[in-house]
Amino acid sequence: FPVTWSLESAEKSGFDDFMSKEILEQPGALRDTLAGRLASSGELILDETTSDPDSLARINKVFIVACGTSYHAGMVAKYAIEHWTKVPVELDISSEFRYRDPVVDERTLVVAVSQSGETLDTLAALHEAKNLGAQTLAVCNVVGSSMARLADTVMYTRAGPEVGVAATKTHTAQIGALLLLALNLARTKGQLYPSEIDALYEELTLVPAKIQEVLNSWDAIGEVAKRFSGSSRFYFIGRHVGYPVALEGALKLKEISYLPAEGYPAGELKHGPIAMLDEMAVVVAIATRTRLYEKIVSNIEEVRARNSSVIIIGNPGDEGQANLGESFISVPRVHPLFAPLVDVVPLQIFAYHMARNLGMDVDRPRNLAKTVTVE
Ligand code: G6P
Repeated sequence: FPVTWSLESAEKSGFDDFMSKEILEQPGALRDTLAGRLASSGELILDETTSDPDSLARINKVFIVACGTSYHAGMVAKYAIEHWTKVPVELDISSEFRYRDPVVDERTLVVAVSQSGETLDTLAALHEAKNLGAQTLAVCNVVGSSMARLADTVMYTRAGPEVGVAATKTHTAQIGALLLLALNLARTKGQLYPSEIDALYEELTLVPAKIQEVLNSWDAIGEVAKRFSGSSRFYFIGRHVGYPVALEGALKLKEISYLPAEGYPAGELKHGPIAMLDEMAVVVAIATRTRLYEKIVSNIEEVRARNSSVIIIGNPGDEGQANLGESFISVPRVHPLFAPLVDVVPLQIFAYHMARNLGMDVDRPRNLAKTVTVE
């Protein structure tokens, strides 16, 4: 018989592309990342470690290095680690880290976040961190990757293989893994009681089901994308943990649709970006009930006053936030520090539909590579 299907189409398991498959796989991927991570002693289980627990207890600073989507996961981690552990967290784009005299010593934990574990900029940053005597942890998805081999400690994200160049399921898995790290550090530092960690872990394990609820809105989000298929300028705004979500929403849209899209902390609008807002601009506001909810609501007012179109990502019950003619995408409410796991999903789906409507190849966007092993 002639072979009428390719290996690739078989791997897509009936999906049009890898990106949609991988977006839809997120509940299972996150479940796998979180599963079996809590020992009966209440201790979180990492994958590979050659460092002794006492040296982890001595750390007085965390330094996260990453690129692209992984960097946005690292940003979320900063909020969680500082909130739960009171340990200061510094964050750097990998390609900047080694060229700027970072202040790192043996009491610093340098965390390299990378889906592939091969990104040259991050690998080089990890090398530099080791040279400076820091403790190191790799959070990556590919087992046995260069970073996993180089770092003292490894935490795998267990999201399964990701083929689409634009990272989706590995991003939410990274956030899940980093939240576990934050809880682990809080325990090591004695900043949270074991019972509090248990309760937070329990709550975190409920998030995959909440992501599933967002996925059920796939078509509704497609309708929103259809409304804006003629728009050519997008601004994503968020506050607190909504800020990295805004950056990631803009990055997804840029990567696969090539539309100009920027992400901003909403409070910064008035310091420059607001000058670009007019009736042609589309503003996507992450306005779920996290810590600065009231503030983002007033930022949305500032946007409306410039007659820009508004798409709100909000929680059930807040639909009234949207004015006539605006779009409201409802996502379930979760613990404020877990919100990025849920809030980013409609933005992935939105970018997907926008790109498809423009006829783009969502799996292989131009000029980009899944793994960048050059500087
Ligand atoms: C490339 C990809 C991005 C990715 C980044 C970091 O630029 O196109 O999607 O976020 O590398 O990759 P990593 O494997 O280190 O997470």
